[in-house]
Amino acid sequence: MRVHVYEKAFLWVGAALLVVIMGTLAYTSLAMGIHLPGHVMQVDPAQVRTLPPFDNPGVRQTGENKYEAVILGSAWQFQPNEIRVPVGAEVTFIATSTDVLHGFVIERTRLNMMLIPGQVAKNTYTFTERGEHLIICHEYCGAGHHVMYGKVIVE
Ligand code: CUA
Repeated sequence: MRVHVYEKAFLWVGAALLVVIMGTLAYTSLAMGIHLPGHVMQVDPAQVRTLPPFDNPGVRQTGENKYEAVILGSAWQFQPNEIRVPVGAEVTFIATSTDVLHGFVIERTRLNMMLIPGQVAKNTYTFTERGEHLIICHEYCGAGHHVMYGKVIVE
């Protein structure tokens, strides 16, 4: 079988790209520790409002400039919908949904989670600059999807 020289070159480019991409993936996940916000635990969405920590959503200080934000997403709001932290705060977001699939993305950060009923998502971010960040639901969740938002105020 004769393979055309351009075809051969194209196959090598494809193979090289595959190696580069797999290498990048391995480096960012193993060396840099960047992971998807995997589910931490499971909860019964029907009971979640009565179970800790979701029976008391809000922001709590857990250490020196360390905070924990427990968030409930439901049609069509985040609870709490305003989070205030000082500049430099390292905030661990622990969130879930009480009803349907919602999104939780904080603009101008890499924080992006899916709120799945029954699953708890967790992710940490350090806010190094003063200002406001919009929190947006970016999974279509029904008629009020477009009004489902909140904000993080870094002061
Ligand atoms: Cu909640 Cu879209």
